[in-house]
Amino acid sequence: MFDRFRRTRINTTLRKLVRETNVTTDDLIYPLFVRSGEGIKTEVASMPGVYQMSIDEVLKECAHIQKLGLNSIILFGIPDVKDSIGSDSLCEHGIIASAVREVKKAYPDMFVVTDLCFCEYTDHGHCGIIDEENQTVNNDATLEISAQQAIIHAKAGADMIAPSGMMDGIIQTLRDALDEAGYENLPIMSYSTKFASGYYGPFRDVAESTPSFGDRASYQMDPANRREAVAESVSDEMQGADILMVKPVLAYLDVVREIKDNTSKPLCVYNVSGEYAMLKMAGSQGLIDYDRVLMETMLSFKRAGADIIITYHAKEVAELLKK
Ligand code: PBG
Ligand code: ZN
Repeated sequence: MFDRFRRTRINTTLRKLVRETNVTTDDLIYPLFVRSGEGIKTEVASMPGVYQMSIDEVLKECAHIQKLGLNSIILFGIPDVKDSIGSDSLCEHGIIASAVREVKKAYPDMFVVTDLCFCEYTDHGHCGIIDEENQTVNNDATLEISAQQAIIHAKAGADMIAPSGMMDGIIQTLRDALDEAGYENLPIMSYSTKFASGYYGPFRDVAESTPSFGDRASYQMDPANRREAVAESVSDEMQGADILMVKPVLAYLDVVREIKDNTSKPLCVYNVSGEYAMLKMAGSQGLIDYDRVLMETMLSFKRAGADIIITYHAKEVAELLKK
């Protein structure tokens, strides 16, 4: 006796009826990189289709993506001036605060997530204040300025704050600071399980955030650790994170499933720059059926347990879903 699995694969309609997982535009968050100036839209060599944009161009892009059915973006700022503590990110007139204000003014319905970190804003390119003695990021000093940055984002009108620096205690710190300032309804999406990964290479080109010395291994996670990966997300859930995240995703789908099964908050995955670049390159070389592999990849995230996908492919996915 054996099962006739093929019975439910007999035609498209039945296959759709029994399909377990779906990808929709409601699942997607589109990343945008903002810098000062006007009329600036500079493509990044390692990420075809991804641009550094001035605020006016970001506004045009918002109109375009809304037409495609995309309603969520995550903003990254590239400041004119970098210094040791990332002052631009702590200033109401800094690039990220200005961008959030302008986007929310022009598109009140656009859901604006802000990446909260310091690597794009510091002259040394690390994700916080450097402890000179140990030549690494000082955790607790960085917590203090992170709380300041969160308030800047909140005041500018951010809809959700997403701390990505992998500092211990960041969620509790931000939750307390936001609550105290009257933002108890502002959600926090934690980059809760973030690995020290080679897949961030192209992002650091676009965000101009490559560390000037060393690497991020003393704060981001060791890719070899699965139990610790779960513990990181569980800890952020207990500290009050509203949404958890695994990043990168393609090489970590086991971790996505493990965290999904061990937490109860919604789970986001970040389909990072290197993953995007690999697919783009293989597609442009005609080595794969790009559209097909793209949708199969998105589906794999949902199947592994993701509720939300941050992806540079969001516009392409939206277009493919329309077909
Ligand atoms: C900043 C940050 C990074 C990414 C998102 N936020 C880079 C890093 O940690 O170096 C990576 C995104 C990507 O590769 O697409 N902390
Ligand atoms: Zn960072």
